Amino acid sequence: MKQATFHQLKVFEAVARHSSFTRAAEELFLTQPTVSMQVKQLAKVVGLPLFEQVGKHLYLTAAGQELLATCREIFEKLSQFEIAIADLKGLKQGCLRLAAITTTKYVIPRLLGPFCQRYPGIDVSLTITNHERLLASLAENRDDLYILSQPPEDIDISTHLFLENPLVVLASRDHPLATEKNISLKRLVEEPFIMREPGSGTRKAVQKLFDEHGVCAKVKLDLGSNEAIKQAIAGGLGISVLSRHTLTVEGTTSQLVILDVECFPIQRYWYVVYPTGKQLSVIAGTFFEYLLNEGKELAIADYLRKHILTKP
Ligand code: PGA
Repeated sequence: MKQATFHQLKVFEAVARHSSFTRAAEELFLTQPTVSMQVKQLAKVVGLPLFEQVGKHLYLTAAGQELLATCREIFEKLSQFEIAIADLKGLKQGCLRLAAITTTKYVIPRLLGPFCQRYPGIDVSLTITNHERLLASLAENRDDLYILSQPPEDIDISTHLFLENPLVVLASRDHPLATEKNISLKRLVEEPFIMREPGSGTRKAVQKLFDEHGVCAKVKLDLGSNEAIKQAIAGGLGISVLSRHTLTVEGTTSQLVILDVECFPIQRYWYVVYPTGKQLSVIAGTFFEYLLNEGKELAIADYLRKHILTKP
């Protein structure tokens, strides 16, 4: 294994994580043949195949699984080493790895601005993804801090309340229900529904509410993006439930309105979490403090300013 290069291990880990050569190549800014070649050379060094292709799916072989676990340990050790060195230097420099659910993209990147200006030596890697994928990252300890709405119960984590994340029903401005008051859930589910993809926390929360009230939505369309859903609503394809934060960029020109529906908004919150016992680096600790104090105040001020404008 001494002949294997660090680069090859990084490439292999990305392919294994995405179960795809193409997506790994995109992430690493490499061509697909380069990625395949690196994995091939690594398999040669190992002396066993690392992946097997069954139909359209790429699976890790037993040797691949062993190697993936080893890679993760190596990367974790290196990142701890980097943290230790940065802490020894006492400098706020290095990398901050954040993972946050999709709805936070309307808030977290804005809060990073002032933080990065204050600490120009810090590079930030922010992954915006859905609930299910974020939990996978958390389980594998890939990032420093995680921001999500439904903290998992089966992972031992330290959880800190960050901000409100109300889920509202959205329709196009000219929808027949737009002017109605206190619409019942029964009436609501007669409308064609646009839902976030399976694995989404928003979808889970909506499903839970509907199940509790014994109603069932007529889902016409599944979409994996809040922005695409907003466009679909504006295009008259149906109604949907999204975080109120997704309206942040619309201002007064919004083609969307919030419907007045019983049991809505679904009151939810964003939490900042990290695995219990995880040693936060100076950088992660500094950002954590910033987020829960100044960051929170900035976000609340921004939210109030925007949502007074977009109030139905
Ligand atoms: P989602 O999460 O992007 O998985 O829907 C959003 C949320 O839980 O608020």
